[in-house]
Amino acid sequence: MKILSIESSCDETAAAVVEDGKAVLSSVVASQIEIHRRFGGVVPEIASRNHTLAVGPVVDEALARAGLTLDGVDAIAVTYGAGLLGALLVGVSYAKALAYAANKPLYAVSHIKGHIAANYIAHDEVKPPYVCLLVSGGHSALLRVDGYDDFSLLGTTRDDAAGEAFDKVARVLGLPYPGGPEIEKLAATFSGELSESCYKLPKPVVKGTTDFSFSGLKTAVINCLNNAKNRGETPDRAQLAAVFQETAVDGLVENAVAVMESTGLKTLTVAGGVSANSRLRQKLKEGAAGKFSVFYPPLSLCTDNAEMIGAAAYYMSVSGAPTADLTLDASANVPLT
Ligand code: KG4
Ligand code: ZN
Repeated sequence: MKILSIESSCDETAAAVVEDGKAVLSSVVASQIEIHRRFGGVVPEIASRNHTLAVGPVVDEALARAGLTLDGVDAIAVTYGAGLLGALLVGVSYAKALAYAANKPLYAVSHIKGHIAANYIAHDEVKPPYVCLLVSGGHSALLRVDGYDDFSLLGTTRDDAAGEAFDKVARVLGLPYPGGPEIEKLAATFSGELSESCYKLPKPVVKGTTDFSFSGLKTAVINCLNNAKNRGETPDRAQLAAVFQETAVDGLVENAVAVMESTGLKTLTVAGGVSANSRLRQKLKEGAAGKFSVFYPPLSLCTDNAEMIGAAAYYMSVSGAPTADLTLDASANVPLT
């Protein structure tokens, strides 16, 4: 089953053709990062306008690279939420028009299910049941995956998402958008001992639960910078970035390990933009040693792309999920499960 998929939930306009949830026949991503960088974050209205310009050429390019015309695909899939409403509407409208014009079934895919499905493309070994740690700009969650279209929530953030915290902390440290990779680079320049750092930050976990809370960690970084300013000192930005990253990662690892222990499952997948973070990968490897296996998507599938949407749609179809009709609407929020 060849699925043409479209993703436009944030600042990437992406299209792909994926066969049977696995074989990527083509994948095209038009990133708007450079456009939004000067504003320090994604400007929703500008994102929508650029999606409108890009979606046609990106879809055409995905079909051309797969050596197909619209007639040759079996279904269309599109991210309908969660994300920026105006941005999502561009992909949803375009996908509905394609499905109507070519008389193809249409799958409405949750962005979250897309991120989870990214690991199916990369790893044959990943099969339910397992646990997924989803860490993106919009979500931080631990999900139990009992079937390809069967998820339950084991932990979530009470406030900010992990990626959002990286982006906000990067901003106050004067780093460009998106902040995650910039924090990682700046943190790598700190060569001292983290345990001896003068910066002490709160771990982003909610005691007695497997939920996360990133807003206190973010505020603590802002307070460190303000205190330094009030004392007329120059903050050690690299050290602060390193301590922030370490603390954020420690919280994610702590809850992930707790959930693996309580469920007794042996496979953990990590998905979403923050899964690109190498310190997170290293510390999860240490936390998992001898207890469970950890899988990550390749870097190109960690951040937003349409391959994962095509893969998720395939698993929706084999699980018997209903197709969408032309009343499909975009949705800024969709439930995690
Ligand atoms: O999954 P994604 O592309 O979009 C959403 O669905 O939100 O995730 C983007 C998020 C941003 O917050 C970005 O700063 C973060 O992922 N990110 C990282 C890294 N690369 C991207 N965070 C930490 N370390 C990274 N290397
Ligand atoms: Zn995403």
